[in-house]
Amino acid sequence: MFTKKKKVANDLNAEAEEFFAAKLTGVKREYVLKGETVHALRGVDLSVPKGDYVAIMGASGSGKSTMLNLLGCLDRPTAGKIWLGHDDITTLDDDHLSEIRSTRIGFVFQSYNLIQQLTVIENIEVPLFYQGNASLRSRKRCIELAKMVGLADRLNHRPTQLSGGQQQRVAIARSLVNDPYFILADEPTGNLDSKTTAEILDLLDKLSEQGRTIILVTHEDDVGARSKRIVRLRDGLIESDTRLRPI
Ligand SMILES: Nc1ncnc2c1ncn2[C@@H]1O[C@H](COP(=O)(O)OP(=O)(O)OP(=O)(O)O)[C@@H](O)[C@H]1O
Ligand SMILES: [Mg+2]
Repeated sequence: MFTKKKKVANDLNAEAEEFFAAKLTGVKREYVLKGETVHALRGVDLSVPKGDYVAIMGASGSGKSTMLNLLGCLDRPTAGKIWLGHDDITTLDDDHLSEIRSTRIGFVFQSYNLIQQLTVIENIEVPLFYQGNASLRSRKRCIELAKMVGLADRLNHRPTQLSGGQQQRVAIARSLVNDPYFILADEPTGNLDSKTTAEILDLLDKLSEQGRTIILVTHEDDVGARSKRIVRLRDGLIESDTRLRPI
């Protein structure tokens, strides 16, 4: 009996692994602040199939950052389950969670978060060092990624010698180095002018065409409109989930 149940569970896991980059069921996140409970997420169900490109939108305080933090394994839900690949991350201990965070999720931030002392190629390599996985072969891969984001002629520049758009390209290449479940981008064009924003959005389109899964938070309708799907949050719940383009 037990074995059979376990087998069914494994099959479901295999299915989750095959189709979904991420899957949230009944996810709640409550914060207790001075004795009052803040319901940041009130029960969110969301499946992100591999290859999807999702823009999470919604008013200030609607729960976007809370959701991004949960997807990024930076926080844990109060209730519900979160599957990344074949792992239900709500059952994992802190060490395992931080391993997934550093090896299976590609973070892209509004402020790029590059290491100023390192060159372009070294910044792209950083996540591999955390894994103790940097080698000549991985160096080659980093150079390929730098080329892919259009920085082949800037490999030995440092962040201060680059434009904002170029710095964000480095961050995007860095986010891909571990072949992540998905790219998690928090307002990736928030610091860029409109021309550079267009270039970064073109790059995200290209990655999406290559089959990468992208989840981004944005306040800007123009940015959301470039995704394949807009998930709008309101008061900690999904208000609408609109597909703009097929996966
Ligand atoms: N650490 C915390 N302690 C208490 N309440 C919090 C905490 N973090 C977030 N909240 C509350 O949870 C709700 C959702 O916050 P969240 O940061 O997810 O919103 P958001 O959609 O990202 O907003 P913004 O667009 O302003 O960044 C808000 O009411 C916020 O005040
Ligand atoms: Mg936020």
